[in-house]
Amino acid sequence: MTTPTAPAARALAELAGTIVLVGAGKMGGAMLDGWLALGLSPASVVTIEPQPAPELTALTSRGLKLNVPLKDVREASAIVIAVKPQVAPTVVPTLAPLLTSDTVVLSIMAGRTLAFLEGALAPDTALVRAMPNTPAAIGRGITVAAPNAKVSQRQRALVHALLAATGLVEWVTDEGLMDAVTAVSGSGPAYVFLLVEALALAGTSAGLPPDLATKLARATVSGSGELLNRSPLDPATLRQNVTSPGGTTAAALDVLMAADGMAQLMSRAVLAATRRSRELAG
Ligand SMILES: NC(=O)c1ccc[n+]([C@@H]2O[C@H](COP(=O)([O-])OP(=O)(O)OC[C@H]3O[C@@H](n4cnc5c(N)ncnc54)[C@H](OP(=O)(O)O)[C@@H]3O)[C@@H](O)[C@H]2O)c1
Repeated sequence: MTTPTAPAARALAELAGTIVLVGAGKMGGAMLDGWLALGLSPASVVTIEPQPAPELTALTSRGLKLNVPLKDVREASAIVIAVKPQVAPTVVPTLAPLLTSDTVVLSIMAGRTLAFLEGALAPDTALVRAMPNTPAAIGRGITVAAPNAKVSQRQRALVHALLAATGLVEWVTDEGLMDAVTAVSGSGPAYVFLLVEALALAGTSAGLPPDLATKLARATVSGSGELLNRSPLDPATLRQNVTSPGGTTAAALDVLMAADGMAQLMSRAVLAATRRSRELAG
């Protein structure tokens, strides 16, 4: 596992050629921000985006090429596909003319398999399928990446650098894991936000004014997340550290850790998301 540090910046800086970003919405935009923050020149980036945000359009003054005709794009080192999965069948085949023998294609589209991408481009295309998550927007995401057999070491290093710009990166060889990855880290931020909502609601039920309950829940979850991030301790130890025998935390954990408690509920939720991811992928 690596964090977005000097090696990622170096790897991006050493890029020859051009990065083509197709779709600069929430996730594509976050990735672009990460690349630029690592020092990649906007002049190295071609972005295709039907409704560019003003900040994206402003980058054209620093050399970013926005919505140029695809036939004018030369020597793409990487093509990053960040459009919605639903438009993939129309968008992905249009990118085939950009491919050279050096190009690696990185797709972050949920549920769009390597086989789909090979079919839409060409069977010998170097491809990486990846699943990021929304904390990418603040450089604190985690992405899992699965390459096909055509990806060279250099291409893998380039993709790693592109992904590390928004947080941690893990590689898997078994693409079949992507459904469970989607269920854990891709969808996971929603579970954490739900935890804040539920904790706030519970605080209100226990008699707190709603505003105060919301503030307490939000600060508790975000503060605990940061503590977990900075601490060398595992989550179970951190939990035990706030739990004295017979105390208030123990009383709550007796409920949350009961046979029908949080672990079982989370397991059912993750299995449901995994199943749904498989269904959507077809
Ligand atoms: N958000 C997440 O938590 C998350 C997590 C993991 C993976 N992903 C994946 O990331 C991808 C992007 O998600 P997102 O949340 O960033 O969605 P988004 O904000 O809707 O971004 C997609 C962008 O692509 C643009 N687009 C549509 N058609 C295009 C075309 N033909 N050529 C170029 N750009 C086009 C869209 O423009 P218009 O608005 O004009 O259609 C939009 O700006 C999805 O495939 C999703 O599965 C997202």
